[in-house]
Amino acid sequence: MAKNRIYCFSGTGNCLDLAKNIARQMGDTDIVMMRSEPVDFDARECERVGFLFPCYAGGLPGRVEEYAGRVMITPGTYTFGVVTYAGYPGCGLHILHRLHPLDYWAGVSHQCSCIWLFPHDLTASPEKSQAGSEQAAGRIAADLLAKKRTGKAPPKALVNQIESKAWPALSKKKAALLDASTDCIGCGRCVKICPRGNIHMQGIHPQFGLDCIGCLGCLQYCPVGAISMGAVTEKRERYHNPNVTPEELTKAILSFD
Ligand SMILES: Cc1cc2nc3c(=O)[nH]c(=O)nc-3n(C[C@H](O)[C@H](O)[C@H](O)COP(=O)(O)O)c2cc1C
Repeated sequence: MAKNRIYCFSGTGNCLDLAKNIARQMGDTDIVMMRSEPVDFDARECERVGFLFPCYAGGLPGRVEEYAGRVMITPGTYTFGVVTYAGYPGCGLHILHRLHPLDYWAGVSHQCSCIWLFPHDLTASPEKSQAGSEQAAGRIAADLLAKKRTGKAPPKALVNQIESKAWPALSKKKAALLDASTDCIGCGRCVKICPRGNIHMQGIHPQFGLDCIGCLGCLQYCPVGAISMGAVTEKRERYHNPNVTPEELTKAILSFD
């Protein structure tokens, strides 16, 4: 078992890319994915245990709160949380801090993957955001190796708490708009990438259920851009992190010596 462990959720690769860059620079680190089970919840032998996830509707994505709550950490272990976001970090770190008091936390802005709401290059170009994320990885890895403490509690804006409570219902409504056009080549990548097992092939055409957390991995990683979630996404440019493949995203554990 590696000395350091990062529990990570990522829908379109930004968080996994950041986790990989931090892990590479820290060394002796396992990234344990929290997308779907099995998740190795036993981190009792680790020296540093952290969580890295995107802000979704001001809060935590999918089952991250449940999974994080099941992680076993030995009292006194150094803990950390990192959130990526497009415009604001939300209250996800605050929720996590209640489950596992965090010694250190940080937020890193990246491209917006929620393209039905905003175009992905909302705040900066993809290249600029990626460079910022890579710089942040270096800073965060150095802080974690030094076991730096943030010294204040993570943000918990009430508006984000309300927004995140409303999200699951809205997410189901949006899921009803998921569709694959006649451009679909029936490759089944969307089926493999969905962290909820919400997509099934009927013949060579994917069928979408309503058990959707809105990560948009299916849409953003579709090799021919055939998947949409309503008219607005048909017009918008697709985005997923350029350094994360679908195969990596769906691994249970990624290890870095
Ligand atoms: C469903 C959904 C909701 C999101 N909500 C927010 C939000 O409330 N605030 C924000 O700044 N970014 C939001 N984002 C943007 C993501 O937090 C950001 O793109 C993140 O880097 C994605 O990480 P990933 O590529 O690892 O999935 C949202 C993205 C999605 C897909």
